Amino acid sequence: MGERILCPAVTRPTVIVCALAAALAAGCGGEIEVPEDQQAARQGAQLFYERCSGCHSLDAANSYGSKPEGSLQGGERSNGPNFNVRQVSREDALYAIRNGGFSGAIMPANIVVGDDAEEVADFLAEYSGGESGSDDPTSSGQSGG
Ligand code: HEC
Repeated sequence: MGERILCPAVTRPTVIVCALAAALAAGCGGEIEVPEDQQAARQGAQLFYERCSGCHSLDAANSYGSKPEGSLQGGERSNGPNFNVRQVSREDALYAIRNGGFSGAIMPANIVVGDDAEEVADFLAEYSGGESGSDDPTSSGQSGG
Protein backbone atom coordinates (compact mmCIF):
# COMPACT_ATOMS: atom_id res chain seq x y z
CA MET A 1 0.00 0.00 0.00
CA GLY A 2 2.73 2.38 0.97
CA GLU A 3 4.51 1.80 -2.31
CA ARG A 4 1.35 2.55 -4.26
CA ILE A 5 1.23 6.03 -2.79
CA LEU A 6 4.88 6.74 -3.40
CA CYS A 7 4.90 5.57 -6.97
CA PRO A 8 2.78 8.17 -8.75
CA ALA A 9 4.38 10.99 -6.78
CA VAL A 10 7.82 10.01 -8.00
CA THR A 11 7.16 8.90 -11.54
CA ARG A 12 4.64 11.37 -12.81
CA PRO A 13 6.83 14.46 -12.69
CA THR A 14 9.63 12.44 -14.25
CA VAL A 15 7.41 11.44 -17.13
CA ILE A 16 6.28 15.02 -17.65
CA VAL A 17 9.83 16.33 -17.64
CA CYS A 18 10.88 13.70 -20.16
CA ALA A 19 7.94 14.46 -22.42
CA LEU A 20 8.79 18.14 -22.31
CA ALA A 21 12.42 17.56 -23.10
CA ALA A 22 11.49 15.33 -26.00
CA ALA A 23 9.05 17.90 -27.33
CA LEU A 24 11.66 20.63 -27.13
CA ALA A 25 14.31 18.57 -28.83
CA ALA A 26 11.99 17.63 -31.66
CA GLY A 27 10.18 20.94 -31.82
CA CYS A 28 12.94 23.42 -32.50
CA GLY A 29 14.98 21.22 -34.78
CA GLY A 30 17.50 24.03 -34.72
CA GLU A 31 21.03 22.83 -34.32
CA ILE A 32 24.28 22.89 -36.15
CA GLU A 33 24.69 19.51 -37.77
CA VAL A 34 28.45 19.34 -38.05
CA PRO A 35 30.07 16.76 -35.74
CA GLU A 36 32.12 18.29 -32.95
CA ASP A 37 35.26 16.43 -33.97
CA GLN A 38 35.30 18.35 -37.25
CA GLN A 39 36.45 21.46 -35.47
CA ALA A 40 37.17 23.79 -38.38
CA ALA A 41 34.00 22.91 -40.25
CA ARG A 42 31.97 23.22 -37.08
CA GLN A 43 33.48 26.62 -36.38
CA GLY A 44 32.67 27.57 -39.98
CA ALA A 45 29.09 26.45 -39.48
CA GLN A 46 28.83 28.48 -36.30
CA LEU A 47 30.15 31.58 -38.08
CA PHE A 48 27.82 30.95 -40.99
CA TYR A 49 24.93 30.71 -38.56
CA GLU A 50 25.92 33.97 -36.88
CA ARG A 51 26.80 36.06 -39.94
CA CYS A 52 25.22 34.57 -43.03
CA SER A 53 21.97 32.94 -41.92
CA GLY A 54 20.00 36.14 -42.40
CA CYS A 55 20.28 35.79 -46.15
CA HIS A 56 21.26 32.20 -46.90
CA SER A 57 19.85 28.79 -46.08
CA LEU A 58 21.88 25.76 -45.11
CA ASP A 59 20.42 23.13 -42.83
CA ALA A 60 23.80 21.99 -41.57
CA ALA A 61 24.30 25.48 -40.12
CA ASN A 62 20.72 25.82 -38.89
CA SER A 63 20.25 28.70 -41.34
CA TYR A 64 17.07 29.58 -43.16
CA GLY A 65 17.57 33.01 -44.75
CA SER A 66 16.99 32.18 -48.39
CA LYS A 67 13.65 32.42 -50.03
CA PRO A 68 11.51 29.48 -48.88
CA GLU A 69 11.99 26.48 -51.11
CA GLY A 70 9.43 26.14 -53.85
CA SER A 71 8.31 29.74 -53.81
CA LEU A 72 8.87 31.05 -57.30
CA GLN A 73 8.09 34.67 -56.71
CA GLY A 74 8.20 37.23 -53.97
CA GLY A 75 10.92 37.01 -51.40
CA GLU A 76 13.25 39.74 -50.28
CA ARG A 77 16.02 41.39 -52.21
CA SER A 78 18.42 40.10 -49.58
CA ASN A 79 17.44 36.45 -50.11
CA GLY A 80 20.70 34.83 -51.12
CA PRO A 81 21.27 31.45 -52.72
CA ASN A 82 20.13 28.40 -50.79
CA PHE A 83 23.22 26.36 -50.06
CA ASN A 84 21.22 23.23 -49.38
CA VAL A 85 20.79 23.01 -53.13
CA ARG A 86 23.53 25.28 -54.40
CA GLN A 87 27.02 23.78 -54.32
CA VAL A 88 29.84 26.28 -53.91
CA SER A 89 33.53 25.61 -54.03
CA ARG A 90 35.99 26.91 -51.50
CA GLU A 91 37.29 29.46 -54.05
CA ASP A 92 33.79 30.68 -54.89
CA ALA A 93 32.96 31.06 -51.23
CA LEU A 94 36.12 33.06 -50.55
CA TYR A 95 35.51 35.20 -53.63
CA ALA A 96 31.94 35.90 -52.52
CA ILE A 97 33.04 36.69 -48.98
CA ARG A 98 35.72 39.15 -50.17
CA ASN A 99 33.66 40.80 -52.85
CA GLY A 100 30.17 40.67 -51.42
CA GLY A 101 28.63 37.88 -53.45
CA PHE A 102 29.26 37.65 -57.17
CA SER A 103 27.46 40.85 -58.12
CA GLY A 104 28.67 42.94 -55.19
CA ALA A 105 25.25 44.52 -55.12
CA ILE A 106 23.53 43.08 -52.09
CA MET A 107 25.75 40.96 -49.93
CA PRO A 108 28.20 42.93 -47.78
CA ALA A 109 31.88 42.15 -48.38
CA ASN A 110 34.19 40.86 -45.65
CA ILE A 111 31.55 39.84 -43.14
CA VAL A 112 34.16 37.32 -42.06
CA VAL A 113 37.90 37.74 -42.67
CA GLY A 114 41.14 35.84 -42.18
CA ASP A 115 40.88 32.44 -40.56
CA ASP A 116 37.17 32.91 -40.04
CA ALA A 117 36.65 33.35 -43.77
CA GLU A 118 38.72 30.24 -44.48
CA GLU A 119 36.67 28.20 -42.03
CA VAL A 120 33.39 29.36 -43.49
CA ALA A 121 34.68 28.60 -47.00
CA ASP A 122 35.83 25.11 -46.00
CA PHE A 123 32.52 24.47 -44.33
CA LEU A 124 30.58 25.61 -47.40
CA ALA A 125 32.71 23.60 -49.80
CA GLU A 126 32.04 20.50 -47.77
CA TYR A 127 28.42 20.97 -46.79
CA SER A 128 26.77 22.99 -49.56
CA GLY A 129 24.80 21.36 -52.33
CA GLY A 130 23.86 18.36 -50.25
CA GLU A 131 20.28 18.20 -51.38
CA SER A 132 20.61 17.87 -55.12
CA GLY A 133 23.83 19.36 -56.41
CA SER A 134 21.93 20.88 -59.30
CA ASP A 135 22.31 24.51 -60.17
CA ASP A 136 18.73 24.86 -61.20
CA PRO A 137 18.19 28.62 -60.91
CA THR A 138 14.71 28.18 -59.48
CA SER A 139 16.17 26.45 -56.45
CA SER A 140 18.91 28.96 -55.79
CA GLY A 141 16.73 31.56 -54.16
CA GLN A 142 17.58 33.98 -56.95
CA SER A 143 14.80 33.51 -59.46
CA GLY A 144 11.55 35.37 -59.81
CA GLY A 145 10.87 38.53 -57.93
C1 HEC B 1 22.53 40.87 -46.61
C2 HEC B 1 22.33 39.52 -47.10
C3 HEC B 1 23.54 38.58 -47.21
C4 HEC B 1 24.42 38.21 -46.23
C5 HEC B 1 24.47 38.68 -44.78
C6 HEC B 1 25.28 37.24 -46.83
N1 HEC B 1 24.94 37.05 -48.14
FE1 HEC B 1 25.90 35.81 -49.47
N2 HEC B 1 24.69 36.52 -50.97
C7 HEC B 1 23.62 37.36 -50.81
C8 HEC B 1 22.98 37.54 -52.09
C9 HEC B 1 21.73 38.38 -52.34
C10 HEC B 1 23.71 36.80 -53.05
C11 HEC B 1 23.41 36.63 -54.55
C12 HEC B 1 23.78 37.85 -55.34
C13 HEC B 1 25.26 37.98 -55.53
O1 HEC B 1 25.94 36.99 -55.76
O2 HEC B 1 25.73 39.11 -55.47
C14 HEC B 1 24.79 36.17 -52.30
C15 HEC B 1 25.73 35.34 -52.88
C16 HEC B 1 26.63 34.56 -52.17
C17 HEC B 1 27.51 33.58 -52.75
C18 HEC B 1 27.60 33.23 -54.22
C19 HEC B 1 26.76 31.99 -54.44
C20 HEC B 1 26.45 31.67 -55.85
O3 HEC B 1 26.68 30.53 -56.23
O4 HEC B 1 25.92 32.54 -56.56
C21 HEC B 1 28.21 33.01 -51.74
C22 HEC B 1 29.25 31.89 -51.83
C23 HEC B 1 27.78 33.67 -50.51
N3 HEC B 1 26.83 34.60 -50.81
C24 HEC B 1 28.27 33.37 -49.26
C25 HEC B 1 27.96 34.10 -48.10
C26 HEC B 1 28.61 33.90 -46.83
C27 HEC B 1 29.68 32.85 -46.55
C28 HEC B 1 28.08 34.82 -45.96
C29 HEC B 1 28.46 35.07 -44.51
C30 HEC B 1 29.86 35.32 -44.24
C31 HEC B 1 27.09 35.58 -46.70
N4 HEC B 1 27.04 35.11 -47.98
C32 HEC B 1 26.32 36.59 -46.16
C33 HEC B 1 23.20 37.94 -49.64
C34 HEC B 1 23.87 37.86 -48.42
